[in-house]
Formats: sequence, structure tokens, C-alpha cells
Amino acid sequence: MIEFLYKALAKVGYTHPIHPPVTHITVGMVIGAFLFGIVAWKLRHQALAKTAHHCIILALLALLPTVFTGLMDWQHYYSGSWLFAIKMKLALAVLLFILLVFAFGAGYKAETVTKSRVILYTLGLIIVTAIGYFGGDLVHGGRTDDKKLEMLGVEVKAEQFTKSCSACHPNGGNNIKPHLQLKDAPQLVNFQTFLSYIRSPKARDGSATVMPSFSPEKLSDRQAREVYQYIVKVLKKS
Ligand code: HEC
Repeated sequence: MIEFLYKALAKVGYTHPIHPPVTHITVGMVIGAFLFGIVAWKLRHQALAKTAHHCIILALLALLPTVFTGLMDWQHYYSGSWLFAIKMKLALAVLLFILLVFAFGAGYKAETVTKSRVILYTLGLIIVTAIGYFGGDLVHGGRTDDKKLEMLGVEVKAEQFTKSCSACHPNGGNNIKPHLQLKDAPQLVNFQTFLSYIRSPKARDGSATVMPSFSPEKLSDRQAREVYQYIVKVLKKS
């Protein structure tokens, strides 16, 4: 069902994760509640106090699709692996939900913004910032920036690796099985060995592994070559 949705989106040219654009609704509304809340508190402005409350309502409504698309992307891109950043994001999302419910209660039928409401809005802002930080860490944590690539004088692109591999293999390591560093992997011996491994990965003893398989729909041969070049030319050297 989930894979069907990603395939349908790819058909119309959308090949990115779905969660990031949706998060902006919740995050934007939490920021709005904070800003309107502060002004309403300082100026004792009743209309703006309502606006802050309405932002909280929208943030709450948007939280459900935000979490849902996050869970979908997590299954699709990371095969549901319990990465540290994922655990943090889930815990913080639960915290945010509880906080928003409290903020909703505090603003319901209230004419003004009190200090305790300001505190709730501020906490909301802190939580969405932290969730955003872990989201960024998940996607960009293992990234080598283009400047470094330029200095190394290699014509390779980090993009595909960052998208598909770096969450579990930041900088060529291995977050889940630290003793199996990607940059030391025997499958890197040549491109064909590498390609057949990522098309249907197995653990060292031949059993199933959490390493997701990358079908040609997920990662074309050309993209796989880009990933391979990047690992061999950049990560193996660093
Ligand atoms: C969800 C996490 C995850 C993602 C994403 C991921 N891997 Fe892995 N990878 C693993 C784990 C876990 C292992 C260890 C496999 C095992 O032996 O159980 C592994 C092992 C490997 C190995 C073999 C290492 C060895 O020493 O046996 C290679 C090569 C590899 N990954 C390449 C890639 C490439 C290339 C990508 C991106 C296209 C990628 N991986 C994406 C988790 C991941």
C-alpha cells in the first residue's frame, strides 16, 4: 500500500520524501502561535490572543498527517530501522502532542494570553526546533560538503549517497552494526559485486538483515554507480 503511493508519486515526477513538506504546516503554526502569543501577551491584545489559539488548533490538526507521513517515509527510506534520530523524533512528537493539547486547553475560551500560555508556546517552539534538528541530522548527518569534494579534486556527487545511505552509514560507518563499517566492506571490491549486494543484501551469515534492499526502481544502476564512486573515491580515503 505504502509502496504503491510512492510509485504513483514517482510517476508524476515526485521522487522526494513526503514528510518534509507536510512538517512545515505544524512547525509554521507552532512558530505562529509563539509570535502572536508574545505580542498578545505584551500588548494585552485580545484578537491576537485568538490568533495564537487558532494557530495551536491548526498545529494540532496538522500533527496527524505530519506524523503519518513521517512514519511512511521511515518505512520507505529507512526500512523502519530504529535509528537514534528516529527515536528522538518520535519521543519529541509525542511530547509535542501533549504540549499542544495543554496549549489548546489553556487558550480555549481565554480572552488574553497569560504567562503560562507564553511558556507553553515557547516550549512548543523549542520542541519543533529539536525535531527539525534530528530530521536534518537524519538526512544530512553523514554528508560530505561539496567544498571538501572540490578540495579532493574528485568529480563525484554526494547527493544519492546522502539520500539513500547516509542515515545508517554516516561518513561510511555503520550506525546499526558498528563493526561492519561501509568503507571497509568487502563488497566494494568492484561495482558488480557492490550492485548485486545492494540489490538483495544479506547478513554475513546469509540470514536476513535490516539493511534495506535497493531495487532498480529505488536506485537505478546509474544512481548506484554514483553511490559506488562516492564511497570508493571519497569515504574510503577519509
Ligand atoms: C536502514 C539502514 C541502512 C541503510 C539505509 C543502508 N544500509 Fe547498508 N547496511 C546496513 C546494515 C545494518 C548493514 C549490516 C548488514 C548485516 O551484515 O547485517 C549494512 C551493510 C552494508 C554493506 C556490507 C557491509 C559488510 O561489511 O558486510 C554494504 C556494502 C552496504 N551496507 C551498502 C549500503 C549502501 C550503498 C546503501 C545506500 C544505497 C546502504 N547500505 C543503505 C544498514 C543500512
